[in-house]
Amino acid sequence: MTFEDEIIAKWIRRVIAGGMMMEEKINPYKNAQKQFDQAAALMDIDKNILPRLRKTNFELEVNFPVMTDNGEIKMFTGYRVRHKFMTPTKGGIRYAPSVDLDEIKALAFLMTWKCAVVDLPFSGAKGGITCDPRTLSKGELERMTRRYTYEMRNVFHPDRDVPAPDMGTNAEVMAWIMDTYSIIENNGNTVSSVVTGKPVELYGSQGRAEATGRGVVQIAERAWREFYRGDLKGMKVAVQGFGNVGSVSAKQLELRGCKVVAVSDINGTIHNKRGLGIDDVIAYSLKTKTLQGYPNAEHSGVKDILELPVDILVPAALENQLTPENAPRIKAKMVVEGANAPTTVDAEKILAANGTIVVPDILANAGGVTVSYFEWAQDKQELQWEEQRVYDELSKYMDRAFVRVKNAAKQYNTDLRTGAYVLAIGKVANYVKMRGHFP
Ligand SMILES: NC(=O)c1ccc[n+]([C@@H]2O[C@H](COP(=O)([O-])OP(=O)(O)OC[C@H]3O[C@@H](n4cnc5c(N)ncnc54)[C@H](O)[C@@H]3O)[C@@H](O)[C@H]2O)c1
Repeated sequence: MTFEDEIIAKWIRRVIAGGMMMEEKINPYKNAQKQFDQAAALMDIDKNILPRLRKTNFELEVNFPVMTDNGEIKMFTGYRVRHKFMTPTKGGIRYAPSVDLDEIKALAFLMTWKCAVVDLPFSGAKGGITCDPRTLSKGELERMTRRYTYEMRNVFHPDRDVPAPDMGTNAEVMAWIMDTYSIIENNGNTVSSVVTGKPVELYGSQGRAEATGRGVVQIAERAWREFYRGDLKGMKVAVQGFGNVGSVSAKQLELRGCKVVAVSDINGTIHNKRGLGIDDVIAYSLKTKTLQGYPNAEHSGVKDILELPVDILVPAALENQLTPENAPRIKAKMVVEGANAPTTVDAEKILAANGTIVVPDILANAGGVTVSYFEWAQDKQELQWEEQRVYDELSKYMDRAFVRVKNAAKQYNTDLRTGAYVLAIGKVANYVKMRGHFP
């Protein structure tokens, strides 16, 4: 490469990086704080309490080595953030290239309000590692997880901070966390309640894997009935993201008679106007690890799914998907947030002006943490509930939360998201007020 070539290459890299920075401008933590502020402004809350609630209060960044399969050492950056009021704090662990401190702070902050909406005795936390898990072998994933757990040995604890799965992690990863923690902190004796979302055979709860998607669809059904006076049968649906939350939501919607016309993953959208067969799509994506090449559908770009002519859109991938740029083109009558923070504050204003109902993440996807709470409680008592009991309890919690959010929204003459925040902030503010300020 000549000197000029190098300069040009550098310049191109800078332009690409600049473009990416422009895309990444929406800070999910600031976005969540704006949602919080909108609700707090409607409430009469002690001015000494609000600043404590508005910020996460524990942030840890660790850089640690992992040996790759070919014997090289690669450095990884991991995080754990807590928003500590009621303990233990609770929240998932994300493995994704997008993971940074602000993303994890946003997700920890949201967890507090989510736990309060469903009335769990937890506040929020979140963790993650900046990585692309698809490029790591199973051995590398395991070594990375165990080393991250070691770095977090003074943070994770059954009564202090209890992780769970999130994007890019699963029950197997939770099993490695439990095993590593038990070895390091308890001489190899099992500490099952230090993490939730474990395999059922390894002190996990029945129904945890399905919990978030089931909750999403139960809330979608309640909200649809509330705002459009009908059931879900025959409604056209699109689901963005076909992982844990997206695939279970799509299946549950299909079971309720919806026509799931499109689903997507990181590689693109698949679309069939007559409706996709979700079992078939699940079988295909489990086998190939992608929706690419799926035979019975049209294929299009990753974000095309968001703008399709459907009744209900379930974003179930990642944050900042509905932005002021695409919000004017969203055709769904209702957006049900399976993902955390998929809608920016400014996009939501545009959606509201167009009459689209947004069912917020801190209500819609709270089923996962609810069954994580059941799992933690089962582990503490060393017993296991039957699947039906888990689903019945989950259904009760979600139903109660929906009614409370709806009533708060009505009382404050506001939307569902602000109603959910009002409910949650009221609960946590009261808790903090009763405990007082130390020293
Ligand atoms: N797992 C849970 O219990 C749970 C609970 C509450 C909320 N959530 C939230 O739900 C969302 C999905 O989590 P999950 O556990 O299903 O993750 P997952 O890793 O199982 O699946 C993620 C899906 O999103 C797709 N995806 C990733 N990047 C994408 C992109 N840029 N564009 C389109 N699709 C993309 C992936 O291909 C995959 O299909 C996240 O926002 C997570 O925080 C998860």
